[in-house]
Amino acid sequence: MKVAGTVRVPGDKSISHRALLLAAMGDGPSRVRGILDSADVRSTAGALRAMGVDVPALAPDMVVVGRGARGLQAPAADLDCGNSGTTTRLTAGLVAAHPFAARFVGDPSLSRRPMGRVARPLEAMGARVSYDGEAGRLPMTVHGAELRDLEWTSETGSAQVKSAILLAGVAAGVEVTVREPHRSRDHTERMLAARGVDVWVHDRAVHVPVGARVAALDAVVPGDPSSAAFFAALGALASGGELALPDVCLNPTRTGFFFVLARMGARLTVDDERRDGGEDVGTVLVAGGHPLRGTTVEPHEVPAMIDELPLLACVAACAEGETTVTGAAELRVKESDRIASVVANLRALGVDADERPDGFAVRGTGPRAFAGPVATHGDHRLAMAFGILGALPGSDVRIDDPACVDVSFPGFWPALRAAIA
Ligand code: S3P
Repeated sequence: MKVAGTVRVPGDKSISHRALLLAAMGDGPSRVRGILDSADVRSTAGALRAMGVDVPALAPDMVVVGRGARGLQAPAADLDCGNSGTTTRLTAGLVAAHPFAARFVGDPSLSRRPMGRVARPLEAMGARVSYDGEAGRLPMTVHGAELRDLEWTSETGSAQVKSAILLAGVAAGVEVTVREPHRSRDHTERMLAARGVDVWVHDRAVHVPVGARVAALDAVVPGDPSSAAFFAALGALASGGELALPDVCLNPTRTGFFFVLARMGARLTVDDERRDGGEDVGTVLVAGGHPLRGTTVEPHEVPAMIDELPLLACVAACAEGETTVTGAAELRVKESDRIASVVANLRALGVDADERPDGFAVRGTGPRAFAGPVATHGDHRLAMAFGILGALPGSDVRIDDPACVDVSFPGFWPALRAAIA
């Protein structure tokens, strides 16, 4: 199989959520270009609309008129967050600073995911969080309050938790400091700073001052490196040809997969690197025809490639030798238990793989074809990761729910077909 052409991946999911939330908190109209129109981002748009923000239908060029940092209205109905952890946790932070309560609901996958990690710091700021059923799970009601300053040390390095605290602090006009065990993606910090908030970042700590205001700002959303990763993998597994992936966000808190793929032997280069809208952006070029070897992913490498680890496991099945990942227990609380689901699916395809409590090991045997069923559990990243194995010559991979890719990458399947020469 050879690859050819250019794949323009859709806008970054993390930045798209934040572009809407920060536009809503702005002091006037903000133009947003290149937003990801996917199910997850629609969940954020819907939650903001339910709280009085005039968010138009998601479009490549759209304007959101901000209502100020603390200008939301009490929702008349539940906030349906669908499959989106980012919608739930970041919006919970915003709601905590408002004088009303909002009930968050989601799909079965989201309803299994832990919310105590975001509820605890918001409660420490003075908000109240209650649950319909099991503590720490949706449906969850956030009762906003007059918040107080907070210094918080997160047990898990989670950008969603960090962002919830920062947004709560900015909306309430109080001072917050968040420390993390490792540095999680830093889009919120960058985007707040670009909008005039005096954000201080030191090592693994972030601080926002008392009385911050969010200026309206036009934003351009760069391509999503987590979506580009699938095509980088496809190119790396191809026997020849080259793919160009233009305008991809190359923020170093996100590029771990490209780094590890290059270390495995893939020929990856970056062209046209530049700074755009506060983010590093460039064209990722990947050339096929270079054999891959297994690698050891260390815990400190995990945060910058957390969403790409299912894909790494699939790529590892086509490399020579063993690939191991440790320090990635967070994978168990993503859209599915991504350690169990990735390993079970690889095994169903005849790959020698096993689970570790905090990661996995995959023993690859070089390029080959794969045949068998894949159970996605509705997890978009699983569908796409195994879709790459299904695109290899002679493969017959049957994915149970291909449409679940719409959460982050509508148009993935046609883009995959078009990339194969
Ligand atoms: C995200 C943060 C990460 C990531 C998720 C998006 C974000 O989750 O896995 O896909 O936009 O902040 P955690 O905050 O749970 O690590």
